[in-house]
Amino acid sequence: MSAPTRIGILFGGPSAEHEVSCASALGVARALAGGGYRTVAIGVTRTGGFRLMPDAVLAELRDRPATERAIDDRLTVTGPAVELRSGPRPGTVQVSAVNAPGAVHAELDVVFPVLHGPFGEDGVVQGLLESLNVPYVGCGILASAVGMNKVAMKRALRADGIPITPHVAFEAHTYRATEDPEKLVLGLRRPLFVKPASMGSSIGISRVAEGDDLAAAIEEALRHDQLVMVEQGVTGRELECAVLGGWRPEASAVGEVRVAGGWFDYQQKYFGDADPMIVPAVLPDEVTERVRELSLRAFAAIGGWGLARVDFLYDKTTGELYVNELNTMPGFTAHSMYPKVWAAAGVGYREVVDRLVELARTRHASRPVTATGSDR
Ligand SMILES: Nc1ncnc2c1ncn2[C@@H]1O[C@H](COP(=O)(O)OP(=O)(O)O)[C@@H](O)[C@H]1O
Ligand SMILES: [Mg+2]
Repeated sequence: MSAPTRIGILFGGPSAEHEVSCASALGVARALAGGGYRTVAIGVTRTGGFRLMPDAVLAELRDRPATERAIDDRLTVTGPAVELRSGPRPGTVQVSAVNAPGAVHAELDVVFPVLHGPFGEDGVVQGLLESLNVPYVGCGILASAVGMNKVAMKRALRADGIPITPHVAFEAHTYRATEDPEKLVLGLRRPLFVKPASMGSSIGISRVAEGDDLAAAIEEALRHDQLVMVEQGVTGRELECAVLGGWRPEASAVGEVRVAGGWFDYQQKYFGDADPMIVPAVLPDEVTERVRELSLRAFAAIGGWGLARVDFLYDKTTGELYVNELNTMPGFTAHSMYPKVWAAAGVGYREVVDRLVELARTRHASRPVTATGSDR
């Protein structure tokens, strides 16, 4: 029997989505352990340091019964400070003690960055892993970066003729130099959605209806990013579809998130009492098919690899579908939409994770050999 594949799970991270990542990572750790992989959990602190979770702590967290709310069920960043270095065999990395590279704690064949938001989902970690020449799960640098930045993402979607909502984007200095913020959003109908360009989990987003304070919403978005996007709101339903694959990706069943109060805010995403997800969404067949087709086109538009969840706004009155965004590392807890819509399509959580690991290796094997990092 060949030795089990050794997978390093990266989780936590400096973004505001730290806790969500810790919860997603526990789901992935459970699936990998159940699938016969050897797993090593590497927590990323809020300042970007790496910590190796001791095996016993990982085993304890992994084996405890699931809690009711996904967000309470999570790994924690704990353990000695470590760094990743190229391993002796090309395509592997070593987890070694900081300042004592001889002290190797573990060796990895594949890295699974279960990180959401800036740093982990925007190409930064992907760049590190590329430079270490190790296979890793999910999108590469470019697709991650484009997927994280809502302005770049909408440009990529528009260039490929994918329907998106009317919007404007501006930088902090433009806003500060403008007397009346209304001038920046001319032509957009309320309600507006004001968003930091690079964030997730609805953090920093405000819905601005008639009579609401636009300037306050922009200030809030600016706390998270210097680049702000303002979109015209769509009143209707929110649909989500998962994409999985490499050269010939596939689209899952379609799910719906039932949202209260006009939009899906952070509180509802992670602390809501009722499960807001309806899987599969109840839709005419042709709408389901169009969502699936647009999901694959959106994935191709950003150059995706491995996985992404594509989120839609479905206008109640006009029947128009808009791609709202792609998430290149979507929530991955057992209660998350990504695994749920795959389960509805007959692909279980463990199979999804298996395929992602395989896709990481395919991508690594097919990329042109440049710097291997092996002489570091
Ligand atoms: N143009 C829009 N029309 C209606 N609702 C929107 C619009 N943009 C965002 N929303 C609401 O805000 C939520 C979060 O926005 P989204 O762009 O998905 O950011 P995030 O990356 O933080 O998830 C959406 O799930 C939806 O409820
Ligand atoms: Mg979203």
